[in-house]
Amino acid sequence: MIDIKAIKSELEMVSDLEQLDAFFQKYLGKKWSITEGFKQMGSASPEERKALGQKLTEAKDQVTEAYEAKEMELSREKINQLLNADLVDISLDTQPLDQGSYSVLAKVRREIEEVYKSLGFIIDYGHEIVTKYENFESVNIPLTHPATEMHDTIYLNDLDPKGLPLILRTHNSAHQVQDMMKYGVPLKLGSPGRVYRFESMDASHDVMFRYAEGIVIDKNLSIANFKDTMQKILSWILGKKTEIRMRPGYFPFVEPGFEIDAACPICDGKGCNLCKNVWRIELLGAGMVHPEVIKNAGLDPAEWSGFAWGIGVSRLAAIRYGIKDIRYFTNGDLRFSKSFA
Ligand code: PHE
Repeated sequence: MIDIKAIKSELEMVSDLEQLDAFFQKYLGKKWSITEGFKQMGSASPEERKALGQKLTEAKDQVTEAYEAKEMELSREKINQLLNADLVDISLDTQPLDQGSYSVLAKVRREIEEVYKSLGFIIDYGHEIVTKYENFESVNIPLTHPATEMHDTIYLNDLDPKGLPLILRTHNSAHQVQDMMKYGVPLKLGSPGRVYRFESMDASHDVMFRYAEGIVIDKNLSIANFKDTMQKILSWILGKKTEIRMRPGYFPFVEPGFEIDAACPICDGKGCNLCKNVWRIELLGAGMVHPEVIKNAGLDPAEWSGFAWGIGVSRLAAIRYGIKDIRYFTNGDLRFSKSFA
């Protein structure tokens, strides 16, 4: 009476959801032939009715099951079709993103920090706003001393607890005393960071430039220890064993004070444009820490000694990369920055 095989093979031919709906109407909806079968049961005898009922129920279950499987299959296909139509290929190349990179100055600073750290130095950046005491008096520059004139200072409107205007540090030495007190002695400390001076700007002067100061405090330190340390640090920074020369120099916070020159890293002392044929380039101000500075940190200068130096990071970067005008470092010209990326 009901040919389930035929119905199922008809279902097999169904290839989309619309046809499936038509199939549903035909066999399982209100007017379905299977439903019709049930209706006929009314005119059957009670025994026949039972057998017929079983057959019909079985048929209905089988067709419904096959129908549901088909529906699932077709819906999945439909969803996949929709997804495929909407597909975004995330593996496709797009416009390359602009990638940031460290500025040359940051690169050189980080290299110096690595050298410091490998020698066991603590790195402390300090802060850029300081008191006049920190910047001058703590490092043996009385406020009335003409040496304050060496640092054309930038003043802020805010006052320190003494009622004196706060200033932008003119050198990293402003932290020497504070750091000795903060970390205690013996001490090996590197202090890289920006310093500010009210200078008229030209190719080699800027109102802001970068220093990487270093200080060592210990017992019985001599100029020989100092020279050896400088030789090591500068050789590492310049990338080859470098002869250094120490000339007398004046800084109120060191005694004796030195200017340190390194053999020109470009011509190795043969003479070139960079060193202007004098074979050496001036790289640092330095010296043995002044007893007054040691005293200011609450230490006995008869017991403790030290040496300190300041490397000009901008200057070193300019020398290393042959940059003729240090204003390039900060003028924000991307063509400049990108050439070092
Ligand atoms: N602070 C000095 C300067 O401003 C550099 C320096 C640091 C000199 C430490 C001696 C010792 O140039």
